[in-house]
This record gives sequence, C-alpha cells and structure tokens, in this order.
Amino acid sequence: MYFLDNDSTTPLFKQLYKQIRERILLGDLPADTKLSSVRDMAIHLSISRNTVDGAYQELLAEGYIYSKSRSGYYVCPLDQEAAPKSLDTKPRAPGPPSESVPRYRYDFHPARLDPASFPIRLWRKFLLECLREAPQKLSQYSDPQGEAELRLALQSYLERSRGVICDPQQLVITAGLQNSIDIIATLLKEQHSTVAVEEPGYPLAGNVFRNHNYRIAAVKVRSDGIALDGLAVTGSSIVYVTPSHQLPLGYVMPVANRLELLEWSETGERFILEDDYDSELRYTGKPIPSLQGLRPDGNIIYLGTFSKVLSPALRISYMVLPQSLLATYRRTFQGYFCPVSQLEQRTLSKFMAHGHWERHIRRVRSTYKKKHDAMLTAIHEHFGSLAQIDGQGAGLHLMLKLHNPICSEAELLSKAQSKGINLFPFTWTCRSGKSATTKLMLGFGGLTHQEIEEGVALLAKICL
Ligand SMILES: Cc1ncc(COP(=O)(O)O)c(C=O)c1O
Repeated sequence: MYFLDNDSTTPLFKQLYKQIRERILLGDLPADTKLSSVRDMAIHLSISRNTVDGAYQELLAEGYIYSKSRSGYYVCPLDQEAAPKSLDTKPRAPGPPSESVPRYRYDFHPARLDPASFPIRLWRKFLLECLREAPQKLSQYSDPQGEAELRLALQSYLERSRGVICDPQQLVITAGLQNSIDIIATLLKEQHSTVAVEEPGYPLAGNVFRNHNYRIAAVKVRSDGIALDGLAVTGSSIVYVTPSHQLPLGYVMPVANRLELLEWSETGERFILEDDYDSELRYTGKPIPSLQGLRPDGNIIYLGTFSKVLSPALRISYMVLPQSLLATYRRTFQGYFCPVSQLEQRTLSKFMAHGHWERHIRRVRSTYKKKHDAMLTAIHEHFGSLAQIDGQGAGLHLMLKLHNPICSEAELLSKAQSKGINLFPFTWTCRSGKSATTKLMLGFGGLTHQEIEEGVALLAKICL
C-alpha cells in the first residue's frame, strides 16, 4: 500500500518513487515482481498517469526496475548485501547539508554564467558521438599534454581571434588556472624566486606561487594596467598580468605599456604570465592583440580558459608555453597524465571543429552585452552621480565605486545578504585584505534582466 500526501512539499511522483524504492530495498518486492501497470496504479491511488509514469521512469533510470516491451515494469534483481537496508537508514558520516550554499535572490557573483547559455543539446550529441566512435580510446590514457585535435583547434582559434602565434606542441590542456600556475611554478622554481602580481588582482595566481615558496610582490594597478615603474623595483623575474581586461578593475593595458612590459621581460631571463581569461567578452572597441602575439618568441606564457564562455564546471583551460620552456616541461612532467577528462576534451574538439565554438561565442557575447547594458542603465538610474562605474565594456562584471559609503565593506555585504543579495568582496582581490575606497564588483552573467533591475534598485537602497 502506498500513502501519498497531497499537502507535502515533496512532489507526488517523488513520494511514490521513494515508497516503491523502499519496498524493493527491503526485499518486500522481490526480483522480477511485476509492478502494477501505470493505468492501474493511477486509478488505485487516484493520481494521474503522468505521476505514476514519473515515478517509474526514475526507478528505471536508477536501475531498480526494468521494462519488458508490451508487458510492463519488473523489479530488478538487487544485491541485497550491497543495497542499503532502508531509505531511512542514516548514513554513517553525515553528508553536507543539502542547502550548504545559501541561495540568493540576487547573486552578483562576478564569475557566474547565464544558466541557459550552455549548449546542452550539441554537447550531448558530440559526447555521445565520442562514446560511440572509439570505445578503445576509453580504455587508455590520453595524451599528457591534452588531446591533439583539441590543441590543433585551439591553436587555429587563438591565432585568428587573439593573434597568438604558436605550434600545437606548445599548448598544454589544463584543469583551470591554478593547475596551469602549479605547472609554471614548478618549471621556473630553479631559477626564479619572486613573482610580481597585480594589486588589486586575481589572488589565486599569487597564492599558488606562494604555496611553492615564491616571494610575492604586489604592484599597484593604474588605469593603464600594472604600474611598470613599480614592477621595475620589485626585483621580480616573473610577472602575472591580465592586460586585456584587468581583474578586477577592468582596465586595458595600452599598446605602449605592452611594449614596455615586453622590454622588461627581454632584459634578463624574465617571464610574463599573460592571463587572457575573458578575451571573448569584449562589447565595445576593437580587441587589443595579445602580448604573446607581439613577441611569439618571447618568454611569455599565455593562459586561457573555457570557464568564462562555456562553463567553469567543465574545468578546461590551457596555456601556451614558450619554445624555451618546452624541453624542461617535457622532462619535468614526464610520466604525468593530463588532468582533464579525455571524453570532455574530444567532445569540445568536435564542438569546435564543427564551427560551433565561434557561433557560441557570438551568441553569448550578445547575451552578456545586453545584460551589461541593462546593468549600466540600472546603475545610472538608481545610483546616479553617487557612484562611479569602472571597467565597463567587457567581461562579466562592472566595478562600482561608492563616493560616500555609509558603512564598511563587511557591513555592506552583511546588510545585502540579509536582503537576499550576494555581493562578492572587492577586498578579496587585495593582497592586504584592505582597500582605501569602497568598491563593489557587480557580476551580471548569472542574473536575468529583471533581476539586474530589481537587484540594483535594492542595492542602491542599502548603499546610499
Ligand atoms: C583572472 C582570472 N583568470 C582565470 C580565471 C578562472 O579560470 P579557470 O576557471 O580556468 O581556473 C578567473 C576566474 O574567475 C579569473 O578571474
């Protein structure tokens, strides 16, 4: 007998699924028992056939029942020893609470993407193709530097879109920026001990170097990028920069400064780590070519990611090593395996080879440009002249400097949180953990137009 509670917040199909599953696990419904037909069960419980079908489909998908054509659904034989005794059995170690990440009505996190932007249909198609095509590939390790097709597709894309000049042999597929920096820090540690980073800047790069015992020198960022006079006095022989869209301030390093930075790297054995993390998302003006493209033979390590345009959950990124480091790289990482799933890499190379990557970029760029513009409008309307916008025209966030902040950043964040707003602390990007001015990093990627308008209006009430 099944008891369904119409007043419960658990959907009826889920209640039914759970109760049938419970009976299967307890052995109450032994293997090969035929379940009532969808129609009979629906009549018996006075619920819709869809509800019963939903429960059966879930049991089918999880392998508790099987279907025989024209006959119905039957209970699968279960390994009773391995099966949990009951749904109510408490796990030995408590798992994370189901709502460990608070949900916000307005989440301004700067690294959130539009949830509808992932090309699920095409991804599924190419993933299935990869599974069907060459099952023997799944029984072996992939190329340690990353799948050859993906590196080839990337090389050609980077040359076309960013002017990066390299050979696919120089490309290494990695599982995110931290993984790339880990490799770089290992490669350079014999000859180098100090790394200059932008202040404010993306802290994870410096943190990885710090974990490899490098000294970190924070160099101020001006409206034309990292202060080159400041860099010169740090004694660093490595610099990590985001020249095409400084994180977090959004500045673009002009060509004259790029040339000067290249000159710096050419004096002695110095390396530039160029993080071009969101180069695809430029909404105004012409894209400035990469530093790497200005000196393909220089000591520049070009870093890129699929996290900003495709998905941060995939964990696929890449770096272009200079020729001068290739031999050391191969020697040092001999016997290491590529950390990125071969299946996802092959799916991505198919996606690119069929021309979907550039189409996808055009589509998401247009989506984010509209959200970017909506945020500009909302800020102008609700903050007026009481705040200054910076870093517009690219990426997934804007900077807002409050002229007369009424409280500290911590108080602001907590007030916002109590109103259902998630704000990302700007001071996270400052190595000192402090900032002389109050700035808000306002991500728009994961918000709808309506949420942008409502969220900014509510935020203005809290901040002003
Ligand atoms: C400057 C910068 N570089 C790289 C990344 C992320 O790269 P990945 O997801 O590939 O680790 C981010 C993410 O926010 C970023 O802000």
